[in-house]
Amino acid sequence: MKATHKLLFVLCPMLVLVFIYYSSGKLHLRVWGQKQPPVSEEIVSVGRIVGSVFDQQGFLVNLDGKLPLNLVYKYENLTTTTCKPGYAAAKMTAIYPKFVQPAPMFLDRNFKRLAKVTNFVPPFGFKTQDRIIDTILTATKNYGLGPELDSLSCKRCVIVGNGGILANKSLGSRIDEYDVVVRLNEAPVNGYTRDVGTKTTMRITYPEGAIQKPERYEKDSLFVFIAFKPLDFKWLRQMIFKEKLQGTEGFWKSVARYVPREPSEMRILNPYFIQEAAFQFIGLPLNNGLMGKGNIPTLGTVAITMALHNCDEVAVAGFGYDMNTPHAPLHYYETVKMSAIKESWTHNISKEKEFLQKLVRADVIEDLTKGI
Ligand SMILES: *[C@@H]1O[C@H](CO)[C@@H](O)[C@H](O)[C@H]1NC(C)=O
Ligand SMILES: *[C@@H]1O[C@H](CO)[C@@H](O)[C@H](O)[C@H]1NC(C)=O
Ligand SMILES: *[C@@H]1O[C@H](CO)[C@@H](O)[C@H](O)[C@H]1NC(C)=O
Repeated sequence: MKATHKLLFVLCPMLVLVFIYYSSGKLHLRVWGQKQPPVSEEIVSVGRIVGSVFDQQGFLVNLDGKLPLNLVYKYENLTTTTCKPGYAAAKMTAIYPKFVQPAPMFLDRNFKRLAKVTNFVPPFGFKTQDRIIDTILTATKNYGLGPELDSLSCKRCVIVGNGGILANKSLGSRIDEYDVVVRLNEAPVNGYTRDVGTKTTMRITYPEGAIQKPERYEKDSLFVFIAFKPLDFKWLRQMIFKEKLQGTEGFWKSVARYVPREPSEMRILNPYFIQEAAFQFIGLPLNNGLMGKGNIPTLGTVAITMALHNCDEVAVAGFGYDMNTPHAPLHYYETVKMSAIKESWTHNISKEKEFLQKLVRADVIEDLTKGI
């Protein structure tokens, strides 16, 4: 008799625990739609909020530009000319509840504490590169946008893509109104200011994409470095310490041999934005955390990801390839036609476009040239 009692005492709580564990596991899977065969192609999970349906990436399926009720009070009556504090992140969270805003733009001396990037090798993290990054950051000594921009309580950022869609739209003065103007790689300003503006807060670039002629660098902008492979960090170290460039075998095209910038004007972009854009936002193949076929987001999308975490309002211009107009120029500064774009091995343009379209449709970002 006593033994059965004892057994029941032990068995009952255990059964309850097993039940709770099992049902919470099921609930968890339902909510996030992972490890469960998709119910239909797009719609894989039903959230707890009645009527909210999320796609495989975790984005709300039904997107529109309307302000969610919880944001109406905060933003409804702000005019279009006042900067809306926290707007992009709030709207992002509304369509993508997993969004966690804090993520520094650039690596600083505490970079080893950025948990999400310590376990990935470049381009998704900085594993194996700690020492060289330490050396570089000791030389740059600066890790922000500069005192003036860092002290702004509300920042509006625009990412200027290099698309031909930017040509002849006279958006230059509109672009110059933003607090932070981000340009990519060698996109020229001189000779195109009517369309692309005059201001450059930062230029995000990797070795093969960097401006090669020193005289073509604008006077004051931050040189923001993004690494795709370990060799890229070596190149950056040589540029920072103004060393003679050595070991160029691993680059896929010729690279700049000299960057006319002081170390204090150089930054390393937080690699988390590459990782998050690839694996969370776009849903590119993880490939064991290594660079592989079709799992690298384009620089433009990495820059947008950075801005979602660090700007109050985000706009883009010069984004989008219109494959229906193969004779339109690919870039605003070249005559190379759209038809020259080849099926890319590294990028997945169509999958990436789906992500960008979600941001535009939900008015998380504003697309000044309407090409997305
Ligand atoms: C916004 O302005 C309108 C018109 O003045 C007013 O009716 C409304 O209550 C305001 N909304 C908020 C959230 O303050
Ligand atoms: C822009 O305008 C110039 C001058 O009118 C013209 O030569 C050029 O082809 C136009 N570019 C595009 C992309 O439409
Ligand atoms: C892009 O993604 C789609 C859907 O996952 C896939 O079918 C296609 O092969 C991918 N393209 C490249 C270039 O990886």
